[in-house]
Amino acid sequence: MKRSDFGPDFVWGTATASYQIEGAWQADGKSPSIWDSFSHTAGKIKTAETGDRACEFYTRYEEDLDLMRSLHLPHFRFSTAWTRILPDGHGRVNQAGIDYYNRLIDACLTRGIEPWLTAYHWDLPQVLQDRGGWKKRSILEPFEEYLSVLARYFGDRVKNWMVFNEPMAFTGLGYFAGVHAPGLWGPWNFFPAVAHVALAQGRGGRLLKNLLPQAQIGTTFSNSWIDPASDGWLDQQAALRLHAVMNRLYLEPLLGLGFPNDDVWLKPWIDFHLKSGDEKDMVFDYDFIGVQLYTREKARFSALTPLVWADIHKASLRGVKHTEMDWEVYPQAIYNILKFYHSYGKIKKIIVTENGAAFPDSVVNGRVHDADRTAYLKEYMGQILRARQEGVPVEGYMIWSFMDNFEWAEGFRPRFGLVHVDFDSQKRTVKDSGLWFSDFLSGRNANV
Ligand code: FCB
Repeated sequence: MKRSDFGPDFVWGTATASYQIEGAWQADGKSPSIWDSFSHTAGKIKTAETGDRACEFYTRYEEDLDLMRSLHLPHFRFSTAWTRILPDGHGRVNQAGIDYYNRLIDACLTRGIEPWLTAYHWDLPQVLQDRGGWKKRSILEPFEEYLSVLARYFGDRVKNWMVFNEPMAFTGLGYFAGVHAPGLWGPWNFFPAVAHVALAQGRGGRLLKNLLPQAQIGTTFSNSWIDPASDGWLDQQAALRLHAVMNRLYLEPLLGLGFPNDDVWLKPWIDFHLKSGDEKDMVFDYDFIGVQLYTREKARFSALTPLVWADIHKASLRGVKHTEMDWEVYPQAIYNILKFYHSYGKIKKIIVTENGAAFPDSVVNGRVHDADRTAYLKEYMGQILRARQEGVPVEGYMIWSFMDNFEWAEGFRPRFGLVHVDFDSQKRTVKDSGLWFSDFLSGRNANV
């Protein structure tokens, strides 16, 4: 496998998110986001850490982009913090926040790095959460205002946009399971959030495309390939339900198919929060779809989990190779999911906007020998190539992540980076996987 097998226009890069890397949580007029509040609440983050400093990317971005360029990484996905740009959630624009992202975008472009901007990677302004956040339809106006402000200030230079990062992850974990910000749980929180996020997903894409007709407008989805844990009927049905919730829930309304209403019975509960005409408003033909996948899960019937009646048989308990997140290493999952997206016959372009692995890396004599990560990346890339050769329009691959960062409720322990970060000294060390990927991109290790 070599870079040219993927074609000359294939997009290669790494992905990050504002809260996970920036730090500077109170700098230059930024207001608190739901992740600042959540991480500052005792018991919410496993390691009791916060993103207050994180990778200090807010002040270190120039050196980090120098490193990125030296590794020949041509595309960089980052997100903007709504709280830096509109500290009150809407209304007053904070010029210091605009200036920061202008500097960041310009710093990318002067280094020949193409910026990919995610508008919403989970850090909702706390002031908007105080008014109900995604549970309330009234979130749509400030969200659209935020998108318009981004387009107005950055649209002259940013050509690749993503509206959402993983709607199912932030509503599932934040409004159903309560383990991510804002820490709400239960169907009565989840269903209204799903309704409004699905609406914002369609409307937001359309809005950005109208404002920036020349740009590539996308949005991203979380995915796991789901197999049943056994051949038994109960587990097979559980797998179908889990697949519907984890992989189809936000995709199908976008494609004009409405919320899934076959394997799971959620649609009436979501529709309850919608108005007539909303279903049409949710549909938008994005320029590209961002597919994000790390693993496959094995589903079992469970009488204890309402709505989906399924739970996940963890990889460590199954005795299979897994990462620090207890996610199975199963490269074929990405091939399967790409084929699945293609099977709708409606998606013109797919970019894999996240994929990667956390392993317990350590720096030894100035090196990080993370052979497991290199193997993981190679194998998943091979499966992407296979899908591409079979006609799936997958045109990019971004590794999560450029550097180790704040992994949400897990704290700093899981290290996903191609670059190791010592969070005390903030020293960066390129891991062997980063060197390998760099060589792959520059054609130095042609056949891997
Ligand atoms: C994804 C998130 C990203 C990161 C990776 C490991 O679900 O989008 O921020 O946490 O998982």
